[in-house]
Amino acid sequence: MRAYDIIAKKRDGLVLNESELKYLIDGYVQGVIPDYQISAFTMAVFFQGMTNDETASLTKIMLESGDKVDLSGIPGVKVDKHSTGGVGDKLSLIVGPLVAAAGIPVAKMSGRGLGHTGGTIDKLSSIPGFQVQLSTDRFIKQVREIGLAIVGQTGNLVPADKKLYALRDVTATVESLPLIASSIMSKKLASGAEKIVLDVKVGSGAFMKSKDDAFQLARAMVRIGQDMNRETVAVISNMDEPLGNMVGNALEVEEAIEVLSGRGPEDLRNISLELGAWMITLAGAAFGIDEAKEKLASFIDDKSGLNKLAAMIRAQGGDDHVVSDTSILPQGKYVSRVYAPQSGVLSEVNAHQVGLAAMTAGAGRSTKEDNIDMGAGIKLAAKMGQKVKKGELLAEVYAESTEKAQAALNILEQAYAFGEYKEQPMIFGTVTSRDNESSA
Ligand code: URA
Repeated sequence: MRAYDIIAKKRDGLVLNESELKYLIDGYVQGVIPDYQISAFTMAVFFQGMTNDETASLTKIMLESGDKVDLSGIPGVKVDKHSTGGVGDKLSLIVGPLVAAAGIPVAKMSGRGLGHTGGTIDKLSSIPGFQVQLSTDRFIKQVREIGLAIVGQTGNLVPADKKLYALRDVTATVESLPLIASSIMSKKLASGAEKIVLDVKVGSGAFMKSKDDAFQLARAMVRIGQDMNRETVAVISNMDEPLGNMVGNALEVEEAIEVLSGRGPEDLRNISLELGAWMITLAGAAFGIDEAKEKLASFIDDKSGLNKLAAMIRAQGGDDHVVSDTSILPQGKYVSRVYAPQSGVLSEVNAHQVGLAAMTAGAGRSTKEDNIDMGAGIKLAAKMGQKVKKGELLAEVYAESTEKAQAALNILEQAYAFGEYKEQPMIFGTVTSRDNESSA
């Protein structure tokens, strides 16, 4: 077999078999096949796509490339949640504690930020003292004791994805449906949960820009989950504007605490309840989504969700006072502000631009080696559909230097448009199995 022939076959739109895919992926992980050939291969996949069988084979090959986490030592049904990536997406910080408060163990391995989207592990790292890297034994012990742990992925979990993703990130091949589906599902399968809830984002701030593509991605991932005997549900949700009002690591922790305290923005609360409801329903702790949402809402009201978050922070070495005093979180020293250049209705608060502006302020990395400014980010003062007057505050940028604050401001100003606004649903639909799909 030669990598050249396999690349040419995909370039010409032909279907690859499992041994060809295995040859490429295993060869890449072992360092035998070079980056440039895999770059050509991922670009060929980007243009030619993959059949369901090819995507399933790729996922299995990636899954087998490294370690798998065994969660069998934790009693109860283990349910995981994963987002395809968005801006202001701090849902895991809200949903994890709420689901754990319902008695369902949450053993979650999360990633760092990718491109213009943030990562849960970076957000948690902004809490003073919080440890994101735990040994697998300690991770499992913590979930057994308090029902909740969110940690970074262990070193050898799906090494094929680590290498492939880093390459895709710099070769403009992230936005490929089969490559996203196999990347996410190989990691979820390797993380050991029996049930999986996927949050598939669609819109300007997401990797999927059209609803059709998002539904297709959702179907592909649900199908892979079913094939591997893991019940999987995908919720397709709106990412045209950032989720909630805060974007940036410490700012997002603050907003998650707000929601768990019974305050916080409605869009964020609603989608947290929806995803959490699917998780506890799959785990058998509720009979239907509405009942499940009510149950989770009661854990916001009685603060048991907030208490779970505090318990997790304590167990992972962090300062749990943060849940009652978010001023202990880092905050960017310099603030710059965007004001409305005209009066009118905000027809766009472009999530992609806001994500880029937050990164530029210091909240994300441009290269893998970059350091993050934990207190950097953006506070939105107005959202889509809102009527504003000329000169009214639209957003604040927090950064560690005036240069970064100014550079972020220049990008953020491009995020806004005025005009007609047609309200969009937050949730476009769900895919629960091959023949069970709903759309709004
Ligand atoms: N998130 C992932 O984990 N992988 C992708 O390919 C895209 C988003």
